[in-house]
Amino acid sequence: MTRRIWNFSAGPAVLPETVLEEARENLLSLGNTGIGICEHSHRGKPFMAVAAEAEALCRELAGIPDDYAVLFLQGGASLQFSMVPMNFLSADRTADYLITGAWAEKALKEAKSCGKTHVACTSKDANFNYIPDACTYSDNPAYVHFTSNNTIFGTQFTKKPAGFPDSAFLVCDASSDIFSRPIDVAKYGLIYAGAQKNLGPSGVTLVIVRKDLVEAGNKNLATMLQYRTHAENESMYNTPPTFGIYLMMLVFRWIKSNGGLTAMDAHNKAKAAKLYNYLKQSSLFKSTARAGSGSMMNVTFVTGNEDKDNAFVKAAETQGFSGLKGHRSVGGMRASIYNAFPPEGVDALVRFMKDFEASA
Ligand SMILES: Cc1ncc(COP(=O)(O)O)c(C=O)c1O
Repeated sequence: MTRRIWNFSAGPAVLPETVLEEARENLLSLGNTGIGICEHSHRGKPFMAVAAEAEALCRELAGIPDDYAVLFLQGGASLQFSMVPMNFLSADRTADYLITGAWAEKALKEAKSCGKTHVACTSKDANFNYIPDACTYSDNPAYVHFTSNNTIFGTQFTKKPAGFPDSAFLVCDASSDIFSRPIDVAKYGLIYAGAQKNLGPSGVTLVIVRKDLVEAGNKNLATMLQYRTHAENESMYNTPPTFGIYLMMLVFRWIKSNGGLTAMDAHNKAKAAKLYNYLKQSSLFKSTARAGSGSMMNVTFVTGNEDKDNAFVKAAETQGFSGLKGHRSVGGMRASIYNAFPPEGVDALVRFMKDFEASA
């Protein structure tokens, strides 16, 4: 087998090796069924058991109350940018958006085509390198939408937005930090996340949504765009992304056997601290996120010189560090260190950065 290298990709991203090994076995035959996981009918008993376990583990890990539906959808987080306002933003209401990065801007763009929107805060003035302290909400918002972790700009909310009018429920795009730390689901109306960073492969999107909101949602939409369709049919109205749900189930088992979300939180903070501590004292590399706003999932940094940044990324690649080039809107480097990224890989990167700095 080809040697696995340190994969710092922002997504699709590294998955636990034990999960991949088990999936490899089950590609040929799921358990002793003689039929591979991708070949099973979604209506058959073996896959129904997988889907039931995926939902049960998801509920257990995050402590999801019974009055919330857990949905496995398609169309990525990007379709949620549209489904949220289509279902919940009527023409006479306003939706408030916290604009802390490019993904939040994309979500706002979709909401604008459904109804009125209001920007409750933005950090665009500083190329999204911080999480604003305060928000100004509209009078009667239908919902408040925020992106808990800004994958591109390397910033992350440490607490959820608060102080908005009671009329609103909270919507969170948690694509790049879902299940990386405990989450108090009852404080949210809807949480969504593309799986391809912390939960599994691309192609499946986890949606956790309060059932009363689903029921009250817009009925004048194409069937597939209504949350109610998916909630009423337990995500099986059409053929669900069976492999994605299966892999997510394995990842949930892995999270559980590694101590659950509290343990993930500690493990992620410890990994990120190694990088931030080094960046703080480095005379070559600097974090692009302001102190206090840095992400535990995507650590973004620069040398301040584009040629040096490029030389670093190139040299890193030759040493088996992949995916470190920063997004073009920030430049520099980005180390994505989701749940499954091993601490040894962070240690190796810090050693490599030290050596590079010493020889620069
Ligand atoms: C925070 C965030 N939201 C949304 C998206 C878009 O997700 P998808 O490609 O699944 O539509 C991404 C993708 O990286 C993301 O990081």
